[in-house]
Amino acid sequence: MSYKTSIAGIELKHPIFNAAGPLCVSLEELHAIGYSHSSAITTKSMTILPRDGNPEPRYYELPYGSINSMGLPNHGYLKYIEYLPQLRAHGKPLIASVSGLSLADNMEIIRALNDADCDLIELNVSCPNIVGKPQIGYDMEQTDDVLSSVMKVVRKPLGVKLPPYFDFVHYEQIATLLNKHKVRFVSCINSPGNALYIDADRECAVIKPKGGFGGLGGTYIKPIGLANVRKFFELLHHDIDIVGVGGINNGRDVFEYVLAGARAVQLGTIFMHEKHKCFARIVSEFDEVMAKKGYGSIEDVRGKLRGL
Ligand code: DHB
Repeated sequence: MSYKTSIAGIELKHPIFNAAGPLCVSLEELHAIGYSHSSAITTKSMTILPRDGNPEPRYYELPYGSINSMGLPNHGYLKYIEYLPQLRAHGKPLIASVSGLSLADNMEIIRALNDADCDLIELNVSCPNIVGKPQIGYDMEQTDDVLSSVMKVVRKPLGVKLPPYFDFVHYEQIATLLNKHKVRFVSCINSPGNALYIDADRECAVIKPKGGFGGLGGTYIKPIGLANVRKFFELLHHDIDIVGVGGINNGRDVFEYVLAGARAVQLGTIFMHEKHKCFARIVSEFDEVMAKKGYGSIEDVRGKLRGL
């Protein structure tokens, strides 16, 4: 049995689907996610124009995760608007990830998505890999401006993909904005930006862009992801749904994210590593954890983390 859930009123057969980023750029890749056990299909973050992204190597597997500086390679929003109806055949919710390079770009893409065939919009305010563009989510004033503009025009449930926060004051500031603007969901966390991995044998970095600095993913970041989900569960109005991302490798990790307060989770680094079979494996592991513990639904567990 799978444990159904929902994000912003959109039903999911189970809580596990792909994160924006890995293996979701082309129509073929998006179809492959449709054929997998992922419960939804999320697109790569789209910009106005198609982009090739940063020079390679730009993704590198690490002992406990990954580092990347992809630079937003994507086909441009007009192509994704063409792809979306073709993906309907899979019978799964479609999530359009948006990462315009300016507020005007985000507004143009979101206006177009209002009439496109997607169920949810995930606005990325946390891409760490564009040279000269700071992550919007670390600038509270800019986040306030972006959310107030976007929420005025959007006609589909819109959520925000957040960068990781580390300071309780910052959590409170950002949660105040998310509550004020009534976003429908948050996905946290995006990769902690600008990490540096060094290969001591070769005495060099492992990715080419930005002198080797890139977003960190995988097992390294799970405690940061759990902390962000937990803190937002405490601070956000309870009609704002939380999607957990960061370092999920197995069903027990999913259970931990649900305990912290997530309604659903996204897979990034493990999906790159294991490819599409990770979805079926992690769904069945999660089902087994839930059944062994005697839980009948996600709601029996969600947010019920105990203190000591
Ligand atoms: C990219 C990386 C991110 O973490 C993100 O949120 C968007 C884009 C990238 O480098 O392509």
